[in-house]
Amino acid sequence: MENLWDRLDPYPFYRNMRADKPVYFDDTYRIYGVYRYQDVKKVLGDYNLFSSQFGKAFNPEGGPFSESLINQDPPAHTKLRSIVMKAFTPRAVERMESSIQDICNELVEGMKKGETDFVKSFTYPLPVTVIAEMIGIPISDMDKFKRWSDTVVGGSPESYADFPTAMKEMSDYFMNMIKLRKQDPKDDLISAVIAAEVDGEKLSMIQTLGFLILLLIAGNETTTNLISNAIYVFDQHPGTYETLRNDRSLVPQAIEEVLRYRSPVQSIFRVAKQDVDIAGVTVPSGAVLQPWIGSANHDERVFNNSEKFDIYRKDNRHIAFGEGIHYCLGAPLARLEAKVAMNTLLDNFKTIVVDRKKPIVPQDSDIVFGFKELHVKAE
Ligand code: HEM
Repeated sequence: MENLWDRLDPYPFYRNMRADKPVYFDDTYRIYGVYRYQDVKKVLGDYNLFSSQFGKAFNPEGGPFSESLINQDPPAHTKLRSIVMKAFTPRAVERMESSIQDICNELVEGMKKGETDFVKSFTYPLPVTVIAEMIGIPISDMDKFKRWSDTVVGGSPESYADFPTAMKEMSDYFMNMIKLRKQDPKDDLISAVIAAEVDGEKLSMIQTLGFLILLLIAGNETTTNLISNAIYVFDQHPGTYETLRNDRSLVPQAIEEVLRYRSPVQSIFRVAKQDVDIAGVTVPSGAVLQPWIGSANHDERVFNNSEKFDIYRKDNRHIAFGEGIHYCLGAPLARLEAKVAMNTLLDNFKTIVVDRKKPIVPQDSDIVFGFKELHVKAE
């Protein structure tokens, strides 16, 4: 879809697709795009008809990512998810709150010293530092994580070319960490995942590896974009930042509206398990589908004034974290990070506006949606 949608504002394109081609076969990529809310919800949620084993559709040789939670169907998914949930618990997330606050405080000090790129100074380092701390990996390796996860979600020809090397490097890195923790467990997520078992079953080495790689990527590329998108959209809607400064109780619902209005994950993949009819189009068994969450969350059939950014929106049934059995495992962590981040920014700056004289560089991906570079004036 590279040339069809605008990476800063795909919404007019989506609106046309919802109206005229709600299920559209892209001949170049040989993928069926799905654009309306109810259809996207069905494709994401109905695991009897739509498989999550899309990793194999793109990379038949498989690998740790193909073995990870996000790429599995029941019954394997059910077992995997119940094991990893023993490690990734609400308590483990809550425990991160004071660390998140400390990291935010430190990053704000950095912003005050004059770094204007909000991604570089704030939204990128926050989630990667949090997830690294939670997993139990040294923050000194942060640049490596950034490179690996950018490559894995990137949509450019260079990213595709670098993908196998990034995967190999990440696998070697985590394999070594897993070995170390097996010998000497610590109070971290790697050790908890190694120890977790359900009905006497534990994760295999490749499953543990897949989970850690998934966490690193999911925890890295999504929350960054949520916070960048928030500041971008507040800037497009003057007065929002000030309203939030005056009434902090609105922060959580403002974050939910950002999740809907500029969803950090715009699309996901599925594979049809049988011939299936969606909005009058027959999608053949084995075909790859791309349900567009970003479009679904603007569907005028579901949301009143769907193209309006409204922090007072009632009944915000966005599906930014997915739907059904694969519903985002990290949603509570992402929401907590966004809330602490937003409150820290509101505490420290009277205004934050986008500096339009400097480059605004969107992500070059069909999946994650946000900015590589977004300069702000924070005062
Ligand atoms: C704003 C931030 C985030 C957004 C918008 C987001 C979005 C999503 C979506 C749409 C899915 C469903 C994928 C599917 O149906 O195939 C998902 C799954 C997942 N997310 Fe997130 N995510 C975010 C943050 C995080 C964080 C911080 C973590 C972990 C640290 C995380 C971990 C996961 C995992 C492990 C899954 C797979 C769950 C499964 O397959 O059962 N996510 N996420």
